[in-house]
Amino acid sequence: MATKVYIVYYSTYGHVEGLAQEIKKGAESVEGVEAKLWQVPETLSDEILAKMSAPPKSDVPVITPNELTEADGIIFGFPTRFGMMAAQFKAFIDSTGGLWRTQALAGKPAGIFYSTGSQGGGQETTPLTAITQLVHHGMIFVPIGYTFGAGMFEMENIKGGSPYGAGTFAGDGSRQPTELELGQAFHQGKHIAAIAKKLKGTV
Ligand SMILES: Cc1cc2nc3c(=O)[nH]c(=O)nc-3n(C[C@H](O)[C@H](O)[C@H](O)COP(=O)(O)O)c2cc1C
Repeated sequence: MATKVYIVYYSTYGHVEGLAQEIKKGAESVEGVEAKLWQVPETLSDEILAKMSAPPKSDVPVITPNELTEADGIIFGFPTRFGMMAAQFKAFIDSTGGLWRTQALAGKPAGIFYSTGSQGGGQETTPLTAITQLVHHGMIFVPIGYTFGAGMFEMENIKGGSPYGAGTFAGDGSRQPTELELGQAFHQGKHIAAIAKKLKGTV
C-alpha cells in the first residue's frame, strides 16, 4: 500500500501555498508515495479578509482533524504572525484534542514549512515555537538540517528557509518564492516522504 504524505497548511496570500505545491511534487518523487494537499479552516470572516486584501481561497480541500490519522507523514505549513504560527493554524491544532487524548498521531514523522514578511521576522522562531504542538502529539519532528546542501549557504541572494524547514519571504506581499526556495521545498517533501516510507508500519 502507498505511503501517504499529507501537506496541511494555512495561507492568506498564497506564499505558503506555493511552497506546499512544491513540497507535494518532492514527496511524490519518492516511489510508492502518494501526497495530498489540505488547507485548514479559515477563522476570519469574508469581511475581514476583504479588508486584508486576501485573495479567494484555492480549491484545495479543507481537512478535518480525524483525516490526519490517515497519513503516514505530515508536513505542516503556515505564515508567521508576530514570530509564531498564524492563529488559523493554531485553531486547527487546538481542534485535535481528541487525537491528542488517544495519541493517534504519535510516532508519525512531521515537518514544518513557513513564510514570513521580513528577514528577522520569524524564519526560525516560527518553526521552533511550532515544535511544541508536535511534541504534545508524540509526533517525530523531522528537520531538513543541512541535507539541502549548497543552497543552505546562499549569501548572494535573499533566501528563506532554514534547517527547520522550507521557507520564503513575502516582503510587502509582492515577492514570490524564488527558484532556490522552491528547490528547498521540493527537497523537504522528498526528504520527509522518504522517512515516512521507511517508518510506515513500524510504530
Ligand atoms: C497580523 C500579522 C502579523 C504578522 N507578523 C509577522 C511577523 O511577525 N514577522 C514577519 O516577518 N511577517 C509577519 N507578517 C507577514 C506574514 O507573515 C506574511 O503576510 C505571510 O508570510 C505571507 O504568507 P501567505 O501568503 O502564505 O499568507 C504578519 C502578517 C499579519 C497579517
